[in-house]
Amino acid sequence: MTRTENFDLSTRNTFRMKAKCALYIEYDTLEELKSIDPQSLPQPIMHIGAGSNLLFTGDFPGTVLHSNVKFMKFVDMGLDEVLMTAGAGVVFDDFVSRSCEAGLWGAENLSLIPGEVGAAAVQNIGAYGVEAKDIIAGVVCLDTKDWTKTIFKTKECGYGYRESMFKREKGRYIITSVLFRLTRKYSPKLDYGGVRAALPPGTVLTPQMVRETIIGIRRQKLPDPAETGSAGSFFKNPVVSRELYSRILEREKVEVPHYDLPGGSVKIPAAWMIDRCGLKGMRNGGAQVYEKQPLVIINATGEATAQDILGLENQIITTIKERFGVELHPEVEHIG
Ligand code: EPU
Repeated sequence: MTRTENFDLSTRNTFRMKAKCALYIEYDTLEELKSIDPQSLPQPIMHIGAGSNLLFTGDFPGTVLHSNVKFMKFVDMGLDEVLMTAGAGVVFDDFVSRSCEAGLWGAENLSLIPGEVGAAAVQNIGAYGVEAKDIIAGVVCLDTKDWTKTIFKTKECGYGYRESMFKREKGRYIITSVLFRLTRKYSPKLDYGGVRAALPPGTVLTPQMVRETIIGIRRQKLPDPAETGSAGSFFKNPVVSRELYSRILEREKVEVPHYDLPGGSVKIPAAWMIDRCGLKGMRNGGAQVYEKQPLVIINATGEATAQDILGLENQIITTIKERFGVELHPEVEHIG
């Protein structure tokens, strides 16, 4: 376990914001986490993953905890089903890579999403028609109320689009490991976002082939985290009523990409709206709307401040509200 006072968080958030916390603790085992006396720490306490969905808007006065619990284990459940458990500190894509190498279906569409396993279960990350909740069988946590181990089944996690009970009860549970349900049964999911078109037709696929295709698609659209700071999608895709969708169609006089949701509402890609308003590539200080995927705000110069990013965020929200009557909400969590 390492403890560092007055810790610089700029390497612990993918936006690379310069912010400090009073104390940073990285623990290697659940036992180490349990040995910490929370009352003795600078308050408040916050737990982070890879910091790939965070925007630090200032210094954090309390303690930042980070899991370095990195085990992965397979449990064979018979003919098709395989359970795989992974520590919260495992890089999510390492888990996806390992499961695909083992020939298991379920996680392949989630390839290359930045972040760690614990945060994936908090955020219910998703891409190409699959969400983390679809493969999560259970979540093991430490309840900070009484510092005891608690296990939740998937249906107890209150999952929705980029939503969960862990997000709503913010700070209450520290996820220590996640149990995933994967399968040997042939089950590629290709119906979303050009995945099928990118694969050779009529071929028997493997999870590894689908993974490589998804990686190819993502690399074309999203900035390389090694080169450019960002937090992936900055906004959630808005869900609007059918009436509002019809009004937008009437006004724009072009095809509006959308996904119909159960109950009659409609999800419109925020990327399309931002593009339609001509905001691609727009800059504010060191921050910029990413040219290839305008749902992403990047730290273009490496020196962008939180104010630069917040300025761009507000300009986008205002422009979209004025043109479409739609309120965008950031997916990225603001801290500070
Ligand atoms: N579009 C444009 N102009 C552009 C880019 C996109 O008009 O420059 C339109 C296109 O019509 C496209 C649509 O926007 O079909 C949607 O774009 P895309 O599928 O690339 O992304 P998305 O639906 O906006 C979501 C997730 C991503 C995930 C992709 C792929 C959210 C907030 N984002 O984006 O997740 O990778 O689908 O499944 O739901 C993340 O959460 O960080 C993330 C990257």
